Amino acid sequence: MKLVRIGRLLATAALVLLFPGALLAAESAPLKIGIIGAGRIGGTLGELWAKAGHQVMFSSLDLEHDKELAKSVGDKAQAGTPAQAAAWGDVLLVSVPYTALPQIGKDYAASIKGKVVLDTSNPIQSRDGEMAVAAREKGTGVASAEFLPGARLVRAFNEVGYRSLRSESNRSGDKVAIPLAADDKQALEVAVRLVKEAGFEPVVVGGLDTAKKFDVGTPVFGKALNAAELRKGLGIEK
Ligand SMILES: NC(=O)c1ccc[n+]([C@@H]2O[C@H](COP(=O)([O-])OP(=O)(O)OC[C@H]3O[C@@H](n4cnc5c(N)ncnc54)[C@H](OP(=O)(O)O)[C@@H]3O)[C@@H](O)[C@H]2O)c1
Repeated sequence: MKLVRIGRLLATAALVLLFPGALLAAESAPLKIGIIGAGRIGGTLGELWAKAGHQVMFSSLDLEHDKELAKSVGDKAQAGTPAQAAAWGDVLLVSVPYTALPQIGKDYAASIKGKVVLDTSNPIQSRDGEMAVAAREKGTGVASAEFLPGARLVRAFNEVGYRSLRSESNRSGDKVAIPLAADDKQALEVAVRLVKEAGFEPVVVGGLDTAKKFDVGTPVFGKALNAAELRKGLGIEK
């Protein structure tokens, strides 16, 4: 028995050394998810992930708000500053007005480096100004990667409204589909896991350059489609 346990420990250690992201995607271990931007999307996803058994740390520019939010979510949730959330999380969710991305990428660069980062942030000209126009032209997968250097970035949860996330998690029948784009295979696996555990169906669209297909203003944006409808709208095969 002892030898079997030692064997398992050695195998796990080898896995971690060879594939540092592998354990994050493993279905059993709860994750520490640092949330930068605990607003409508960040607050909703944090609650869904806490319900699924993960630990979350909410952060924003208003610590008191985040403490209240954490209290309402329960003992799997806590609040901190964005710097604390960035350092604490094994995985980060960045869900802020697009104009905040450059500052976040600079201020928390050391914490972000090498971490899986799910980015929901959308560039909206009326709110974010000219930088939103440039980001939309590039596509958010490419633009966000430039603002968050070193992140193992996944574009996720940007295409469905917060009301649908709140009310349609684990809905009966076909689940609401969440399109994902990433260049990093293991980061994508972690995102797939977190989409499923929040009660939705992941649809992998492709590399970061394909995030453009489901950015603001595209035909599929904001529709809470099921997976078949989303794939059809994006023109991708299963
Ligand atoms: N609403 C939707 O249905 C939806 C759907 C998909 C994607 N999105 C996109 O996802 C992002 C978040 O949307 P939301 O609706 O959740 O917005 P929101 O409710 O306004 O929340 C934004 C959060 O970001 C925080 N924040 C702002 N600047 C920050 C900074 N420099 N550092 C740390 N935190 C900062 C805000 O804190 P304070 O409140 O303290 O300022 C707030 O907690 C946006 O880019 C949005 O376009 C929204």
